[in-house]
Amino acid sequence: MKLQAFSVFLTLAVVANAQNLKARHDRVVHKRQALTSPSVSHSGTTHSTTTTAAATHSVSLVPAAAAGTGVPPIESISSGMPTQATLPVSGTFTPGATPPVSGAPVLPTPFVFKPADWPPQDRVAPVDSSEVAEWLKELEGHNIPALAPTVDGSCAGDPVAAADAANRGWWTCGGHTRATDVLACPDKLTWGVSFDDGPSPYTQKLLNFLSEKDINATFFVVGSRVIERPQLLLEEYMRGHEISVHTWSHRPLTSLTTEQVVAELGWTRKAIKTVLGVTPTTMRPPFGDIDDRVRAISLAMGMVPILWTSSPATGPFDTFDWKVAAGLVKGPQSFNTFQAILGNASTLNTGFIVLQHDLYEITVDMAVGHTLTAALTHNPALNLQAIGKCMKWPTGNLYLETNTNATFPTKGVDTDGDGVIETHGKTGQSSNGSNNNGAGFVAVPFFTVAGAMAVIATLLS
Ligand SMILES: *[C@@H]1O[C@H](CO)[C@@H](O)[C@H](O)[C@H]1NC(C)=O
Ligand SMILES: *[C@@H]1O[C@H](CO)[C@@H](O)[C@H](O)[C@H]1NC(C)=O
Ligand SMILES: *[C@@H]1O[C@H](CO)[C@@H](O)[C@H](O)[C@H]1NC(C)=O
Repeated sequence: MKLQAFSVFLTLAVVANAQNLKARHDRVVHKRQALTSPSVSHSGTTHSTTTTAAATHSVSLVPAAAAGTGVPPIESISSGMPTQATLPVSGTFTPGATPPVSGAPVLPTPFVFKPADWPPQDRVAPVDSSEVAEWLKELEGHNIPALAPTVDGSCAGDPVAAADAANRGWWTCGGHTRATDVLACPDKLTWGVSFDDGPSPYTQKLLNFLSEKDINATFFVVGSRVIERPQLLLEEYMRGHEISVHTWSHRPLTSLTTEQVVAELGWTRKAIKTVLGVTPTTMRPPFGDIDDRVRAISLAMGMVPILWTSSPATGPFDTFDWKVAAGLVKGPQSFNTFQAILGNASTLNTGFIVLQHDLYEITVDMAVGHTLTAALTHNPALNLQAIGKCMKWPTGNLYLETNTNATFPTKGVDTDGDGVIETHGKTGQSSNGSNNNGAGFVAVPFFTVAGAMAVIATLLS
């Protein structure tokens, strides 16, 4: 399955979200309908027939198209708009070239895709392989809490797990965080720029813009996309962006078994290493769906979880840019969401991390023509940085092959925030399960999409 199918996932997730997650049965029926509806074009642009929210807000301060970006004005950005030609990858970066990360190995021989080497794309990675058996050994000696997988990664879908959400440190259900979670850049007015779910055919346009403006970002890449577009991953890495793991098939990780989580992280890590020659030491869980079990697995495998900024006072720093691609909102409404993020950002004592996507032409257009351009002219001035950079981590820490800090990542979860990694099962003593994590606020629940994804996974796998 390719990008189109992934678009279907997203569209379907949106549908379920808009329906406020009715009964599971209803959702499945709905998805079957959507699956057979002509909702996705081959260009990856969604033409959803399930638009539920029209943009009715009047918008002040709407930017015109940024000069020279080739992006339409915000008023004309909506699902179903004409697509533009995609840009070719530069292809500048060849085997033996030296990456911009000190001490990193030179670029390996070009990636050649052989289906037999990889799990099927966009399905939960199978666990019955010698690779997964090998990666499971990385969990030995680590305390992986014996938490049952959630039903579908959502509070609503699993009342039993939801009742235990604080104890299990579940972010998508109650906003529970741990000291090891990366939630915000420490310095005020510093924006950790991140793009999820690529590389896609539109990533090159974004990369050209970022180069032109001298902005480095963090790309959370999906393994199933990496093996499709290795040249774009090379381009991201070689131009100085940070590369992080965003799983193989983009499922809510709390809903998977421990073996499946290992497979999802392991195959993505391997895909990135095969293309770039380096192995990320960071990851972002799809939908932000993480709990102490998923954290412990990720850290045992050498990956620090990175989320995005959220608090009860500000809401999540999620642009929800995908809602435009899915036909749920139009450009101006999405831009309002972004302006609220910037407004809230100015009120924080720390910096912040914003979630955007490079999977769709529309989300790339929103970033290139509107949101990033608005951020660059924001008053007070914002400092746009990749997340590792804003965290002041040495660049070498970002990859196993270049990391010299033996305690990065820490090898376990400090569930009660006392600075010590727990060595027993669930601590049972965490009264609210939340740490301030130095950022001065905690996350809030906001994802119901995750539940839909699990149902889709069941349907399609
Ligand atoms: C982006 O990363 C490259 C490679 O590490 C670096 O040379 C460049 O200075 C960075 N740009 C910014 C704005 O930090
Ligand atoms: C903060 O975000 C909320 C939406 O989450 C919005 O209603 C509010 O206006 C924003 N605050 C500022 C100061 O922009
Ligand atoms: C190594 O990483 C840990 C975080 O895992 C950090 O607290 C520590 O300061 C780092 N040490 C050095 C020398 O950078």
